[in-house]
Amino acid sequence: MKIGILYHSETGNTERFAQSLADAMIKAGHTVNSTKLQTVNPVKKASVRDSQTINFSNLPDLSSFDLILFGGPVWAFGPSPAIIAAIKQCSGLQGKSAMPFATMGFPIRFLGGTSALHQMSKELAAKGARVLPGNVCRQMMNKLESDIGVAVHSILNRIK
Ligand SMILES: Cc1cc2nc3c(=O)[nH]c(=O)nc-3n(C[C@H](O)[C@H](O)[C@H](O)COP(=O)(O)O)c2cc1C
Repeated sequence: MKIGILYHSETGNTERFAQSLADAMIKAGHTVNSTKLQTVNPVKKASVRDSQTINFSNLPDLSSFDLILFGGPVWAFGPSPAIIAAIKQCSGLQGKSAMPFATMGFPIRFLGGTSALHQMSKELAAKGARVLPGNVCRQMMNKLESDIGVAVHSILNRIK
């Protein structure tokens, strides 16, 4: 399968998740193209509900992929404003499979993780994508590495 990974990461946690996904997918025989979103101006660290204009310098065309994963950190109990802006601005999602993924600080997924995946899924569906269930990994209490391991394994099984 030809897989695109598009993610926002400020402090590296979502990037680690994205890299682990890419490594495992390549090992499983998929072709992977991973893009860390670059913004023209720094993203204001605020809720997705606060208005801000976010422009990207490296938004890829997604039409050549079979499946695209969209990732970002949880901010203010919701999704990263940057990944939501990227979903809204990207082209080529119609009819494609898409999956959200996220990382969060708190150890309880209801403190933003579940809502972030839900809102990302909603935006992906609005772009005409066939949305697959995603995963969120938690940073606190040293959970990140083990959460990433479990999530990568389960995502690989889901896309077989
Ligand atoms: C502005 C801001 C808001 C945040 N809000 C939450 C939150 O509501 N819930 C949570 O669990 N973590 C929250 N975090 C922590 C991040 O989600 C967490 O550290 C994430 O893994 C960072 O991802 P990154 O390293 O890819 O940027 C917040 C971090 C920032 C900077």
